[in-house]
Amino acid sequence: MTPSEMSFANLLVTDKDGLRTIAVNRPKVLNALNSETIGELGRAFAAAQGDASVRAVILTGAGEKSFIAGADINELAKQTPIGGVETSRVGQKLSILVEHLGKPVCAAINGYAFGGGLELALACHMRTAAETAKMGLPEVGLGIIPGYGGTQRLPRLVGKGVALELILSGGRIDAKEAHRIGLVNRVYPADSLLSGTEELLREIMAKSPIAVKLALESVNSGLEMPLSEGLNLEANLFGLLPTTQDMKEGMTAFLEKRPPKFTGN
Ligand code: CAA
Repeated sequence: MTPSEMSFANLLVTDKDGLRTIAVNRPKVLNALNSETIGELGRAFAAAQGDASVRAVILTGAGEKSFIAGADINELAKQTPIGGVETSRVGQKLSILVEHLGKPVCAAINGYAFGGGLELALACHMRTAAETAKMGLPEVGLGIIPGYGGTQRLPRLVGKGVALELILSGGRIDAKEAHRIGLVNRVYPADSLLSGTEELLREIMAKSPIAVKLALESVNSGLEMPLSEGLNLEANLFGLLPTTQDMKEGMTAFLEKRPPKFTGN
């Protein structure tokens, strides 16, 4: 489905030469995620997954001030215990879809990334940030805990001690500190965040789509396994690739000293 065939109340979706950008657009609440927006993000990512012309995705926030200021506290304030489990599960389901999209997804953090917003960025494969961005998991200050995967993905990304400091204090960090602890891959001046992120993704898009997909699967699934099983998975995926045109093309192009033309077959 092309962006013009999709209709969203709270997202802006654009395509540029195989790169899809999904921007959360709720300016009155700094792009906070209400349940309608979570549903729309689910549809937007599923459409990106199913569209072979989409090779990579940028998730960002519309406007200059905010990426996503977390889950919408107007909705959270009304939740019941059973509703709370469901809220968490719905956000987690979206994060799993993003993580297992099979195409590279980069969060371009253009401003505030708090709570569920940062947690969604953690499910992306890479994160870039504007120098002006601020990040944190402020949930304990609201009497809740991160519920969109933050207690699980943050320690896996930056280590338990650093993650616990952020989760337990609810404190904010800037882009420079986020880069220092490995939370974001790259930091750009605000006006070159999207072009820099595009450049990073175009480098990946020039590679074999099948190899990129299987590398993502090997890392994502392998991290949940004991090392010996992860190594088995890697070997099995490695063994699938000689069946592809892309492997033949990649190696032939190298030997013929020319750039490869990958088709994803
Ligand atoms: N939900 C609902 N509304 C929000 C919001 C959120 N997460 N974040 C900001 N807003 C609203 C504000 O209420 C305000 O609305 P009004 O204009 O009607 O007063 C508007 O957005 C602008 O916000 P501020 O005036 O507060 O802007 P600021 O620049 O002074 O501060 C901010 C920005 C530091 C991000 C501050 O708005 C803030 O602390 N927001 C809440 C961040 C947060 O706690 N996020 C975690 C939510 S819980 C969660 O995500 C749970 C989970 O794991 C799923």
